[in-house]
Amino acid sequence: MSNSKLDLNGQEYELPVIVGTEGETAVDVLKLRAKSGAITFDPGYGNTGSCASAITFIDGEKGILRYRGYPIEQVATAASFAEVCYLLVYGELPNRAEYEEFRDLLARHTLLHEDMKKFFEGYSTMAHPMAILSSMVGAVSTYYPSAESDEDLNLNIIRLLAKTSTIAAFSYKKSIGQPFVYPRNDLSYTENFLHMMFAVPAETYEVPPVLDRALNLLLILHADHEQNCSTSTVRMVGSSEASLFASISAGISALSGPLHGGANQKVIEMLEKIRQDGGDYQKYMDMAKDKSSGFRLMGFGHRVYKNFDPRATLLKEAADEVLEQLGVADPLLDIARNLEDTALKDDYFVERKLYPNVDFYSGIIYRAMSIPTEMFTVLFALGRLPGWIAHWKEMRSDPDGRIHRPRQVYVGETERDFVPFDKR
Ligand code: ACO
Repeated sequence: MSNSKLDLNGQEYELPVIVGTEGETAVDVLKLRAKSGAITFDPGYGNTGSCASAITFIDGEKGILRYRGYPIEQVATAASFAEVCYLLVYGELPNRAEYEEFRDLLARHTLLHEDMKKFFEGYSTMAHPMAILSSMVGAVSTYYPSAESDEDLNLNIIRLLAKTSTIAAFSYKKSIGQPFVYPRNDLSYTENFLHMMFAVPAETYEVPPVLDRALNLLLILHADHEQNCSTSTVRMVGSSEASLFASISAGISALSGPLHGGANQKVIEMLEKIRQDGGDYQKYMDMAKDKSSGFRLMGFGHRVYKNFDPRATLLKEAADEVLEQLGVADPLLDIARNLEDTALKDDYFVERKLYPNVDFYSGIIYRAMSIPTEMFTVLFALGRLPGWIAHWKEMRSDPDGRIHRPRQVYVGETERDFVPFDKR
């Protein structure tokens, strides 16, 4: 381990340097405050390594994303979502026997306790399914106590992965006033979810393979993305030793915001608005460049990717294929392509390295699959679940782990005397 030197107010401090397996360099400031009284300042944690992690590697400049070392392009085309769950949560690809056992466990734990169905009756018909999802996942903890042993914890992990898809599908059925469709253990994770979403008790339903493949791809592409807002939230909440369910519920809430997972819904709403406004995408490009408009091109830009988002590249190709196979012609896809082409040539976007992100094309595919707009972010949450779990698990087993507690630079009033009402 090498050292770096910091010259602060005429005093020199040695700070250790940590280098990751991909050569990423970090200055370890853990002891800086104890030695010098100073803290580091990094609002929004844009340049802060909050942990060491062996789960996902991203190189934002080169557009690289790898799960446990495997390139996303290979994983996305060759794996099933259940396999990716196993890889992220347990660290290695499963052999066939391990995979079959895991798939079987996932299938067997999809049922919700019957009493939990009553919770759905209490939600307003206006409730956003992300709000239902986060509260229902929190509520699962009232049925399954916090895990004491590794075995119990593993069972809770399986329960969470399995039951969240049922909760998501039930929240959709509730929103359209249809009876819940119970899970089927003979189906794969993705087939089962589509079955619970689209089957109607009075009719037979065969999951169309094109939908299954598209969902598999979408969930895999969302499965992990290292220290993003929701994953950092899961780690933050979990660091207080809050339960797995409580931590994931907090992660779902963090994901719901329009600057994070909620962006996929906002992209479609934006494209729809442009269409209704006569399809004049240039007008919206101009608005996005004008700071006073308060308008941003949703689905564009990323804190980490400054070249291209490899997930967006895969989804752009998939959008063309899925729409063609489903025989869907969506005018929003044309608007999206035009926006992308124009933005990629526009100085404003080029200078700021703003490219389409994962949310830009995912919504077009969800729409073609007949997934309602309000469910887009729920699908993102389903995909991100194994990543959140893997990070929670990694954080909790870190021998150096401790409660997360950042510092601040106080810029408020200095000490002053309290003034009673009659003197204010
Ligand atoms: N449209 C127009 N201008 C933009 C956009 C955009 N979508 N995104 C960033 N910019 C501009 C900013 O105004 C800023 O310009 P300036 O340097 O002149 O002030 C510059 O680009 C840098 O933007 P920041 O907001 O500082 O970048 P940051 O890394 O903080 O934000 C974010 C990243 C939140 C993704 C941002 O690009 C954005 O709001 N995008 C739209 C929402 C979106 O698509 N979110 C999904 C992200 S991916 C995900 O969570 C799965």
